[in-house]
Amino acid sequence: MTDTITIALSKGRIFKETMPLLKAAGIEALDDPETSRKLILDTTIDHIKLVIIRATDVPTYVQYGAADLGVVGKDVLMEHGGDGLYEMLDLKIACCKLMTAGLKDVPLPEGQLKVATKFVNCARNYFAEQGRQIEVIKLYGSMELAPIVGLADCIVDVVDTGNTLRANGLVPQEHMADISSRLVVNKASMKTKHDGLKQILDQVAAAVDKG
Ligand code: ATP
Ligand code: PRP
Ligand code: MG
Repeated sequence: MTDTITIALSKGRIFKETMPLLKAAGIEALDDPETSRKLILDTTIDHIKLVIIRATDVPTYVQYGAADLGVVGKDVLMEHGGDGLYEMLDLKIACCKLMTAGLKDVPLPEGQLKVATKFVNCARNYFAEQGRQIEVIKLYGSMELAPIVGLADCIVDVVDTGNTLRANGLVPQEHMADISSRLVVNKASMKTKHDGLKQILDQVAAAVDKG
């Protein structure tokens, strides 16, 4: 019997942009996660299932082997730390930048900075490297609001077009990292399900190269 292979994905842009790449490996979801309430989706390949979870939970599912493969933003992966998984491929989708941002025309204060973000580890590591003292304020979204209401001096978030920053009177400041989504694999699965995973990885890699 062929081993089941489980792929962890999040809804939204990752699902939409990953489907054409999986299609190149013959994998198509039988339901649309945006309309279905199902959390485990069957695919056109019997032994391959998709689990649809929050973006931030993808590395955790793959780390513990609850999923063999996962598609996750490099931002989320850096924040998780990458224990128990291999980063195998840059899928070159959901591209953006991890940046600091603050209020337009308001200089950052000297001394300790208040930084609002959901990327607390990334923020701590980045500012530690700069030798800057920070207090991190953990948020779960809408980070752009924090400097406006005086909750923080600056934020750490992903930026693509810059529209969200602009619409809220903020400007991008420091570029921390270039972000795109990565295909990650559970370390144990890479041994126990090597042939099945290798086949998917090779086909997806070829689809990425074709662009
Ligand atoms: P949740 O909605 O569950 O809180 P999320 O906001 O991280 O999670 P998405 O917005 O779907 O989920 O983002 C998934 C990934 O896509 C992010 O981890 C990041 O790598 C990338 N991303 C986020 N925002 C953008 C954007 N505006 N443009 C391009 N890529 C983005
Ligand atoms: C992301 C991110 C920024 C915005 C940046 O939010 O958290 O707010 O995109 O993109 P831009 O530079 O093109 O404006 P998203 O659209 O994912 O909304 P949500 O995560 O708050 O649901
Ligand atoms: Mg988002």
